Amino acid sequence: MRVVALTGAGRGLGLLTTRVLLDQGVTVVANHRSASPELSALSDKYPDTLHLVPGDVGEEAAGEAIARCAREIGRLDAVVLNAGITRDRPLVSTSVEDWDEVHRVNLRGAFLTTKHALRLMMRQRYGRFVYLSSIAALSGNAGQAAYATSKAGLHGLSQAVAQEYGRYGVRSVVLVPGLLDTGLGAALAPELQQRKIDRSLLGLGSAEQVAATVAFLAGPDADYINATVIRQDGGLVY
Ligand SMILES: NC(=O)c1ccc[n+]([C@@H]2O[C@H](COP(=O)([O-])OP(=O)(O)OC[C@H]3O[C@@H](n4cnc5c(N)ncnc54)[C@H](OP(=O)(O)O)[C@@H]3O)[C@@H](O)[C@H]2O)c1
Repeated sequence: MRVVALTGAGRGLGLLTTRVLLDQGVTVVANHRSASPELSALSDKYPDTLHLVPGDVGEEAAGEAIARCAREIGRLDAVVLNAGITRDRPLVSTSVEDWDEVHRVNLRGAFLTTKHALRLMMRQRYGRFVYLSSIAALSGNAGQAAYATSKAGLHGLSQAVAQEYGRYGVRSVVLVPGLLDTGLGAALAPELQQRKIDRSLLGLGSAEQVAATVAFLAGPDADYINATVIRQDGGLVY
C-alpha cells in the first residue's frame, strides 16, 4: 500500500492529482480548506482509500491532523505541498496583510505540513516531498512579489529537507508548472494570461498533464529524483 498526502485537494490541480492517485490505487490523505462537492463525490467512490482531513494549512493543527491520519493508516510515503494562494498587486501597493497571508499559506503552510510529516517518514526511513512552485519563483513576475517570494521559499525548504533528512531516506523535489488551464492560471486577467501563454513555446499547459507528473513524482518510480527542480512549462521563449 502506498500512502500519499496532499494539501489543497478541494479543487484545481490538487483535486485532479487526488483523482489520478486514487485511480492508480494509492491511498490518499486529502487536506482541504473549504467544503468540496467534488472531493465528497470521490469519497463516495473510494470510501476505503480516500481520507479527508479538513484544515487551514497555515495553522499547525492542519499539519498535525494530516500526520495523525497517516499514522492511523500506518504509513506515509509522500506529501504533495499543493495548497497555494495569490494576492497579486504591484509591490508598492502590497499591504502587509496580503504579504503575510500569501506567505502564511504558501510557505508557512508547507513548513508546518512538512515538519509533522517528517517525524513519521524518519521512523519508517522513507519519504518524499513534492513542492508546487511557479515560474514566478525563478524569474519574478510583475505584480507577484508576495507570491514569487513565497514560492522561492519552497525551493530553499525543499533543499533543506533533502540535505537534512536524506540519511533517513527522505527525498524532496520542486515542480515548477507553467501557466495551466485551471485554478490560479485560469483566474488571471485575460491579457496577463495571454502574455504568459505567448511566452511559452508550447502555449497554455494542461493541468491533467501536471497532475500526472505530480503523481509520478509522488510514486516509487521517482525514487532517484532528489534535491532538484523540475520545470513543466512547455519551454520559455528566449
Ligand atoms: N494553475 C496554474 O497555472 C499554476 C501554475 C503554477 C503553479 N501553480 C501552483 O499549483 C498549486 C495549485 O494551484 P491551482 O491552480 O490548482 O489553484 P486553485 O485552483 O486556486 O486551488 C488552490 C487550492 O489550495 C487550497 N487552499 C488555499 N488556501 C488554503 C489553506 N490555507 N489551507 C488549505 N488549503 C488551501 C484551496 O482551497 P479553497 O477551495 O478552500 O480555496 C484550493 O483547493 C498552487 O500551489 C499554485 O501556486 C498553479
